[in-house]
Amino acid sequence: MSSYAIRRTPGDASWFRHDRFGMFIHWGLYALPARHEWVKTRERMSEADYDRYFERFDPDLYDAREWARQARAAGMRYAVFTSKHHEGFCMWDTRYTDYKCTNTPAGRDLLREYVDAFRAEGLRVGFYYSLLDWHHPDFTIDMHHPRRDDPDAQAQNEGRDMRRYAQYMRDQVTELLTNYGKIDILWFDFSYPDYHGEGDRAWMRGKGAADWEADALITLARRLQPGILIDNRTGIEQDLWTPEQYQPLEWLRHPQTGEYVTWEACQTFSGSWGYHRDETTWKSPEMLIRMLVNTVSLGGNLLMNVGPTARGCFDRRAQDALRVYADWMRLNGRSIYGCTMAEPELLPALPADCRFTQSEDGKRLYLHLFAYPFAHVQLPGLAGKVAYAQFLHDASELRFTEGRVDHFSEGAAQSEGLLVIELPARKPDVLVPVVELFLK
Ligand code: GLC
Repeated sequence: MSSYAIRRTPGDASWFRHDRFGMFIHWGLYALPARHEWVKTRERMSEADYDRYFERFDPDLYDAREWARQARAAGMRYAVFTSKHHEGFCMWDTRYTDYKCTNTPAGRDLLREYVDAFRAEGLRVGFYYSLLDWHHPDFTIDMHHPRRDDPDAQAQNEGRDMRRYAQYMRDQVTELLTNYGKIDILWFDFSYPDYHGEGDRAWMRGKGAADWEADALITLARRLQPGILIDNRTGIEQDLWTPEQYQPLEWLRHPQTGEYVTWEACQTFSGSWGYHRDETTWKSPEMLIRMLVNTVSLGGNLLMNVGPTARGCFDRRAQDALRVYADWMRLNGRSIYGCTMAEPELLPALPADCRFTQSEDGKRLYLHLFAYPFAHVQLPGLAGKVAYAQFLHDASELRFTEGRVDHFSEGAAQSEGLLVIELPARKPDVLVPVVELFLK
């Protein structure tokens, strides 16, 4: 059995660790400037500047069912949708602000369409909710805020009251977790308690759990949706550890107890989360697959982001990237779902440029060939342990020998315990071929 002891958390993460692969969706007014979701603060835009997007947000091509179909086809099993990003704009028909999609030319509750469509497609449904809010009049100016460079920034903070803002968040989270049925994930973003201003901006304080009144926020969420998974970004540890824009090289462990934790890497196709027209750092197809495999080989999940356009669709590049996953997952999903890091005693067998995953019942070991080797792949220590081997994508048998490479040449590798799988000379036509080993 390859069942690792994983740190217990308040929510039930077992479905999550089984499903492994989800879609992040960053969609908001920032799709219109199309140059990063932080554009309002990067360019120090005023409310009036930013209103031009509010006035023109008209996603006439939005078809959530089409998004859900593409997510499902890509092998994703859950999704997390930005209900509100740092800009403060709300993608649902909230009662607590006018700054919402129903007051734009969109005129509809976009979040509801997402929920209905993704659920109908059999995917689990999550909400991202930004703790930062660059529109709310009570959210104090800090080092991330668009008004931070205004000469009168400090004066503008007078009268702002984070306690009222914390109440606003509780009211909104109540709506989100009451009016849309069962919600599987609540993804708060993010805390920066140590990010203070310096010099004449020393009064600009970072923000964290106390500012969000995170205890009360989480208690509320758990009362409304008892099984829900919540990330750690309020500054209070909950269910999910969320490394972002980098790939861990080991299964994340709890810093105090050393236990394995439930973790989810979140990644972009191209660097920005919101739709970015001129971004050119799109990941190669190989890299997309490797990132997913790497993650699962270390016991984690991958949340891969799509930034839809302001018309309401995934652009060609995003569709192509999703198709890369679809093609690979259709044939190889078995090495991802319900799989985790291989048992410790199997890890020494791992050849160079390969990754293992293993089914949770321990019966199947998956060898992912990142660089396709010539003729043989050698697995020290696995002789006597494998009953049958095949390529996963086409279930074609792969013959193997034990103890030595079956070749007359002098110097052909041999050693007790060596398992040698014979490979065809040509790499099969899948981005990352997977060898499925049925263990005895
Ligand atoms: C960040 C960014 C943000 C993005 C998020 C996703 O913390 O602020 O724009 O939504 O990461 O993980």
